[in-house]
Amino acid sequence: MNIEKILIVGSGAREHAVCRSIIRSDKPKELFCIGSNNNPGIISLCSNFLIANINDPKVIMEFAKEMKCTLAIIGPENPLGEGVADILGDLGIGVVGPQKKLAQIETSKSFARDLLNEFEIPGSPKYETFKSMSGVEGFLDQLGDDFVVKYDGLAGGKGVKVSGEHLLSTNDALAYCQELVGAGGHFVIEEKFIGEEFSLMSFCDGNELKHMPAVQDHKRAYEGDTGPNTGGMGTYSDADHSLPFLNTDDIEQAKNINRKTAEALKSKYGEGYKGILYGGFMATSNGVKLIEYNARLGDPEAMNVLSLLETDMIDICKAIESETLDELSVKFKNKATVCKYAVPEGYPDDPIKGEAIDVSSVSDPDSLFFASVDVDNERLIEAGSRTVAVVGIADSISDAEKIAEEEISRVKGPLFHRKDIGTTKLVKQRVDHMSALR
Ligand code: AMP
Ligand code: GLY
Repeated sequence: MNIEKILIVGSGAREHAVCRSIIRSDKPKELFCIGSNNNPGIISLCSNFLIANINDPKVIMEFAKEMKCTLAIIGPENPLGEGVADILGDLGIGVVGPQKKLAQIETSKSFARDLLNEFEIPGSPKYETFKSMSGVEGFLDQLGDDFVVKYDGLAGGKGVKVSGEHLLSTNDALAYCQELVGAGGHFVIEEKFIGEEFSLMSFCDGNELKHMPAVQDHKRAYEGDTGPNTGGMGTYSDADHSLPFLNTDDIEQAKNINRKTAEALKSKYGEGYKGILYGGFMATSNGVKLIEYNARLGDPEAMNVLSLLETDMIDICKAIESETLDELSVKFKNKATVCKYAVPEGYPDDPIKGEAIDVSSVSDPDSLFFASVDVDNERLIEAGSRTVAVVGIADSISDAEKIAEEEISRVKGPLFHRKDIGTTKLVKQRVDHMSALR
């Protein structure tokens, strides 16, 4: 049997989780990684680890050639936006991650909205795209109090401003639009949905989709969903692969939107989307709505779902490459998970950097995922973004939360985490919010 030589692009906790899922496979394999920081968790699993600009397709191509990689999994969105999947595909490498034109589903907000509109896929808001102030005021008038303004490109989650939260008046909205016009940017204004958010990710081989358990992320930095937006402070999933505030029909609607979107991409480009299609949804009183698409695994969502994955990850990747996902049964354990991130003091606006942390007291090293860390003189140091994550796994969300909370509290250093993620109190608030809306 040939050894599968697998390249992982990216060096955060999501990629650490991907590496672990690959290592669990009993197939002969070797792992290689290109990353931006010395992630000791990934390094310990790889034959070769290169620090380089992960957004430069040429650098990645050279490394993949040199290491004779046969398969690649692209973690973050920026390399996808730069066409890394295209260039690796041209080398004959099987790639889990869509080509640049298909990754527009994430890299361009207007592309995603226009696609859903063109193919009459349910879940779309009223929206319009702009590149000047012409028509902005009129459209804001039409939407009334509930609107969202989105910069039309990758902005690490910082380009989206929501009425009532970041934009407290029409004047605030006009000023933000003006700022985007001034910066030469296109933007989308859309209707604001009210409800509860959840992520539903699907493996996709261009034709067939295999869905993962639904997950809820917590984007705000501080407890009680206050403070600035972040990449995600923590996540939970439930043993039945749904979420306590969702019903079976909500999950079916989200799966249907993902399926129709994959079909639309194939029919638009004649080529299928191969990778992970990640729908960010909102359950509302009026059905499930699409907030955004991502063209990759979520972070932290990857830690929840990959910790439950029972099917061999190499088999999944090979099935995506060969368009045979329909022949593979993709299974996840029926357990609940809670993932919590510890982040540097000051994160996300003014994070400290370079301070030492100590993870030696974490009792189950398999539950610990390294993210934005570096190694300096054999000390583990914070590299400035989300630092380490832990996942608790149990029969119920509340038991998984207790495990995650105990473990993350054992990480020492100038860090903080959200104690409330996955607690019965917070989950009940979500359930009550949803029941009040329905
Ligand atoms: P995005 O980068 O598109 O995920 O947007 C970031 C966050 O903005 C989302 O997680 C939502 O909380 C919020 N958001 C984006 N679009 C909408 C919308 N149409 N209605 C309500 N909230 C939204
Ligand atoms: N958890 C949000 C994201 O990965 O975009």
